[in-house]
Amino acid sequence: MSDKKAFLKVDGRDEAIELPIYSGSIGPDVIDVGGLSSQGMFTYDPGFISTAACESQITYIDGDKGVLLHRGYPIEQLAEHSDYLETCYLLLYGELPSTQQKAEFENTVRYHTMVHDQLTSFFHAFRRDAHPMAIMCGVVGALSAFYHDSLDIADERHREIAAFRLVAKMPTLAAMSYKFSIGQPFMYPDNNLSYAENFLHMMFGTPCEDSVVNPVLAKAMDRIFLLHADHEQNASTSTVRLAGSSGANPFACIAAGIAALWGPSHGGANEAVLNMLEEIGDVSHIEEFVARAKDKDDPFRLMGFGHRVYKNFDPRAKVMKESADEVLAELGIDNDPLLAIAKRLEEIALEDEYFIEKKLYPNVDFYSGIILKAIGIPTSMFTVIFAVGRTVGWIAHWHEMISGSYRIGRPRQLYTGYKQRDYKPLDQR
Ligand code: SDX
Repeated sequence: MSDKKAFLKVDGRDEAIELPIYSGSIGPDVIDVGGLSSQGMFTYDPGFISTAACESQITYIDGDKGVLLHRGYPIEQLAEHSDYLETCYLLLYGELPSTQQKAEFENTVRYHTMVHDQLTSFFHAFRRDAHPMAIMCGVVGALSAFYHDSLDIADERHREIAAFRLVAKMPTLAAMSYKFSIGQPFMYPDNNLSYAENFLHMMFGTPCEDSVVNPVLAKAMDRIFLLHADHEQNASTSTVRLAGSSGANPFACIAAGIAALWGPSHGGANEAVLNMLEEIGDVSHIEEFVARAKDKDDPFRLMGFGHRVYKNFDPRAKVMKESADEVLAELGIDNDPLLAIAKRLEEIALEDEYFIEKKLYPNVDFYSGIILKAIGIPTSMFTVIFAVGRTVGWIAHWHEMISGSYRIGRPRQLYTGYKQRDYKPLDQR
């Protein structure tokens, strides 16, 4: 914290309102405006452009410099040297695990990957053409109907078990939502496989033969999970925190996060990027779409570009682009037309005055879809993959809030509706 102060001078008031200023370990100072309500005023910040909703030690982003740190470690170093489960441990416990801690954590996750068999009937209640995100919203929330033994959010051990179950079961539920949509039998997790290998096994394996997972694709899958693991107070994480602030159980909170992630402005953007690249269809059409993206009267936006925080390259997009090249080379896909359009679109956008002035750079969703499509994952599953990776971030933030002192989140408003008026009988309207 700090002893710095802000003084708010308000017309019509003799005395300036004194507000405390707090400093973090890095990043901007914050002005504590909590005392304004007792002075009969609220702050007004739709979209929370300038609002710090909480204190956190999990992830730090510097949008101008394109910096992303998880518990202080740069995302580029984690992507290069770590793996998804090790990053999960880091996000949940605050430190990189020792060899023994890593092995124990991997083992714990491994032995929680199965879901209650009764859940399979839940899947069969959906239409086959249900969007997998609709299914995930349902089945993840339904987990709270199965795990009564870990719903006491005041119990540290219950919170830890819920974290293990969610990290472990999300890939299983995700693969089940895909298998259900194509009418194939669900695949059980295979305890001999790594986290990402297991996911690809459950996605593409069948009971008819032993599935062989390509290690290059498994590494790319693990890296995609890692790059999506956490991202500070984004819309879905803020949703999880708000839901958790009422005391809702962790499964319900994560289901709320999944619902918020689904939107095309947020986690739904990776699916929207692929649909956009397919709509563009050819590099010769790019100029037309860039023009549309710049046209105020056209709601079209270049999906995968822009970010509320990054006004520079999204560091995850850089790593994702390298992975896209590796995966396509491994698969011998030299001239993927969509990748050609994506790369040309990036070149054009980064030279265009509009995008330069508005600091619109490719974000995490711009290249991830290219990799997922090359791995064979259908576009409708892209946001589900994002949700699988982000679950650990949601849970880490939920746990950080619940294990500290917190109050129910309850924003106020600027009311511009009718002043009080009397009821008008029907015959007088
Ligand atoms: C994610 O918050 C996170 O951390 C999210 C995320 C995470 O890991 O959790 O990083 C994941 O959600 C990445 C973002 C994925 N979304 C998209 O790719 C969708 C396309 N991008 C836009 O919808 C937009 O850029 C947002 C939603 C990402 C950011 O919205 P903001 O911060 O509210 O920015 P804005 O809408 O106010 O845009 C600022 C200006 C506007 O022009 P003006 O009103 O100032 O004239 O830039 C323009 C916008 O019109 N603009 C775009 C644009 N994005 C913003 N113009 C064309 N194409 C775009 N993609």
